[in-house]
This record gives sequence, C-alpha cells and structure tokens, in this order.
Amino acid sequence: MPNKSDSAYGKHPSIMPEEIVKRLVRLFAFEKDLVLDPFAGSGTTLKVAKELNRKWVGYEIYENYEEVIKKKLGMNNVRPPLKINRIYNLDVFAFFDSLPDNSVDLAIIDPPYNHKLIPKLKRTASIYIFNTPFNCAYIASHLRKKNLIHRISEDYTFNHEEIRIPYAAPERVNSPKGILKNGQRWFPNPNGKLCSDVWEISSDRHQTKIEGKIQKNIHPSPKPENMIERIIKASSNEGDLVLDLFSGTGTTSVVAKRLKRNFIGCEVNESYYEHAVARIFKE
Ligand SMILES: C[S@@+](CC[C@H](N)C(=O)[O-])C[C@H]1O[C@@H](n2cnc3c(N)ncnc32)[C@H](O)[C@@H]1O
Repeated sequence: MPNKSDSAYGKHPSIMPEEIVKRLVRLFAFEKDLVLDPFAGSGTTLKVAKELNRKWVGYEIYENYEEVIKKKLGMNNVRPPLKINRIYNLDVFAFFDSLPDNSVDLAIIDPPYNHKLIPKLKRTASIYIFNTPFNCAYIASHLRKKNLIHRISEDYTFNHEEIRIPYAAPERVNSPKGILKNGQRWFPNPNGKLCSDVWEISSDRHQTKIEGKIQKNIHPSPKPENMIERIIKASSNEGDLVLDLFSGTGTTSVVAKRLKRNFIGCEVNESYYEHAVARIFKE
C-alpha cells in the first residue's frame, strides 16, 4: 500500500508502492536506459525512473491525472500550452501565464476581473463579471479609469433572438387576430418578448430546493444554470471559446459544453475542481 506521504494519496485509486518500482528499475534497467510506463496512473514509475537517473516516458488516458503526475514528477511549474474543453486546478495568475492572447470569445468571471485578462480577449469578445451592485459600479469605473476597456467593437456578438423571454400572458401568442395597440394590430412573437437589461433569476440555492428546503451544496455559491445559459446564448456562438475563470464546481463550463461551445477555466480549490471535472464528464 502507498503511504499517506505519497503526493497522489487519495487522488488515485491504485497507486503502486514506490519500493516495488525501485527494485524493478534497479534490477532490469541501467542508468540512462529508457523506462516505459504506458499506464502511468499517478506517475509512480516515472518518478522512480527519474530519481534513479533512468530516462522515462509514459502515457495516461485520463487527462485529469495530469496535474497529479506533474506534481509527483516535480513539474508543477512546467506549463505546456493549455488545451480547450478543460478546467485546470490552478490559481488564476498561473493560468493566465499559459492562456494564449486573443483566444477568448466570451469571459464569464465570478468573482472580480483581473487586468491580465484583457489581452486574452478577441476584439469582438464580451465580458460578464458577477459581483455586488456596489462593487460592479466600482469595477466599471476602475476599468474605464485604467483604460482597460480600450477596444469597444461594433461587431460584438449579441443574439437577442436566442434569449427571448415568455410573455406574462402566453395565451396572447395564440390569438389569431393579434392584439390591437395604438390603433395597430400587433402579433406577439411566439418565442416571447425581448430580454430587458434587468434579469430576474432566482439563486441556485432557491431553484434547487426540495420540498421547500434548501439543499446542501458542495459549493457555497454556484451560479444558476439558466442564467449562465442566457449569457452564453446571447454573447457567443457555437464553436466559440468561453473562458470560465474561478470555475467553482464548473457551472459555466458544463453549460458551455451543453450549448456546443468550447470552454477553458481554472479553479484553485482542489475539491471544487474535482467536482467540476466530474460534472463536465457527465454532461
Ligand atoms: C463564486 S465562486 C464561483 C462559482 C462558479 N461560478 C459556479 O457556478 O460553480 C468563486 C471561486 O473562485 C475560486 N478562487 C478564488 N481565488 C482563486 C484564484 N486565485 N484562482 C482560481 N480560483 C480562485 C474559489 O475557490 C471559488 O470556487
């Protein structure tokens, strides 16, 4: 059994004890020989081969073990280019260092923005930042003062037809004569009214109540899926890249995947990150 000091303890179900691998490597490979591990798992064989001055190469099918393997190999700081449709268990600053400039179509940020974000956005991209009303006003004025919103594009995406809201009296839609308004006949849009600037959406805690009781959630403040869905439909198109900073348990990435958008994100808390990966995998 691996001991609790193994850096992958609790993160991989079947870690090979290092001592077994050490004996095998010493017995069957000389220094500088190449050790192959085609089922790398948490990376024990690769770590031992490295320590014993052998060359090493490995393969692991599950991408979510990448961070575990890198940690075992002492390569946490080695950052190859990020792949899309993944969340990274990284601090937002480390994440930004690897994210290519001019790659993002829509940024959904929860909580506040970071000025390193701006170069990552395409000229036509949109940013949504969640915060309290007081902070939002402060963030907007700060962004303007620092000239961080310096490119206001004319050709940004806003699909208003995609986010119509059902009328309060939906039966009017079926009225064959339409509605008489200011002497003119008006026919309501069957998809509902245009979405206004003020959105009324209950919090996730309230939407997921069972028999009137708020359920215990792994994350204290997940965003409601229907709100994220509206943002993504309005401000991106299929195949666009949605940036999910501060992913939490991955609501934005899950909805982006459902709506056939690409996504990329980061979450520093390991247990939220793992929950997000599981949610995305199930979606
Ligand atoms: C309000 S929550 C996001 C919830 C998410 N939108 C959802 O629906 O599940 C903010 C998240 O930011 C993460 N966080 C805080 N500081 C961070 C940092 N420096 N880098 C990356 N993530 C961070 C927290 O762990 C927390 O899960």
